[in-house]
Amino acid sequence: MIGQLEQLLGQLDTLLARAIEELGPINTSADLDDWDTRYLGRNRGELKSLSSVMPKLSKEERPVVGQKINEVKKELERHLKEKREELKQRELMLALEQERIDVTLPGRALPAGTMHPISRTIQEVTDIFVRMGFSVLQGLEVENDYHNFQALNIPTDHPARDMQDTFWIAPGEVLLRTQTSPMQIRTMEQYQPPIRVVVPGKVYRNEDIDATHEAMFHQIEGLLIDEVCTMADLKGCLERFAHEMFGPERRLRFRGSYFPFTEPSAEVDISCGLCNGKGCRSCKYSGWLEVLGSGMVHPNVLRNVGYDPKKYRGFAFGMGVERIAMLKYGIGEIRLFSGNDLRFLRQL
Ligand code: DAH
Repeated sequence: MIGQLEQLLGQLDTLLARAIEELGPINTSADLDDWDTRYLGRNRGELKSLSSVMPKLSKEERPVVGQKINEVKKELERHLKEKREELKQRELMLALEQERIDVTLPGRALPAGTMHPISRTIQEVTDIFVRMGFSVLQGLEVENDYHNFQALNIPTDHPARDMQDTFWIAPGEVLLRTQTSPMQIRTMEQYQPPIRVVVPGKVYRNEDIDATHEAMFHQIEGLLIDEVCTMADLKGCLERFAHEMFGPERRLRFRGSYFPFTEPSAEVDISCGLCNGKGCRSCKYSGWLEVLGSGMVHPNVLRNVGYDPKKYRGFAFGMGVERIAMLKYGIGEIRLFSGNDLRFLRQL
């Protein structure tokens, strides 16, 4: 019987050694669970089957074997616990490794928009006048007949009204402004001379639409009022503007014209940039391109706002922003500006 006892104790030692050896290379929880069932399992675990000999042992042998089994069991459980901890740690490291965020990667950029060519042109033009001491004002798009026409020396039956087909809101009284010129009146009603303002904004005309005409477009109005002011000041100011906007090599031409609110009035042409004034298709072989209207403020207009025409005088001008942009960027079609075609907008 002694030999049998020693054999049994020896088997338990071998079992322990084998179990520990097998534990070494295990590196997944699933394999570890298998190992657990194989050695420590309650039903078919190896330790359990070795313990099944207990009833066959003598009273003296039983505690010896029982103690040994307990030792082996404790030892196996200790190793199991250590291994579980090790695997848990390793799986955590693995997860951290895989889910790692590279904070040095550049972010995904949002597509950036750009300024609309009309807004940009307004910005460029007004900047030039701001550098000459002008302020920038904004006016109303819904105007009344008085400010849009009458106060500008355009009475109800004046033929000049035919040139600006009007969108009426209340016929004869309220309208969508056909020009930015009503802001001349509003500015002079609100401020006293000296006045130097430019006023960009939308204007509306009930016109047939084609490559150079839209029902809504933009203008920039200019007004200067002072005690001393001559046509030479007007010319110098506009020449400075044209040179900064289009280049110092461009020449200006003042052509006598008519506007009800200025006297004398002049239309201003700029030498064609493509042919340098020699004449080409772009300037219809004249060498000149029309850029704006201007003149010395009419005494009636000054009187309408309560200014004394003997004391104050001034000049005014008005330009179409689309026209300026078309000249500057070489665009032949006004409808592109309001067409919202990104292929066009991205080019500028
Ligand atoms: N308001 C005019 C138009 O729309 C443009 C204009 C001409 C404005 C001469 C002015 C000016 O201030 O002096 O046709």
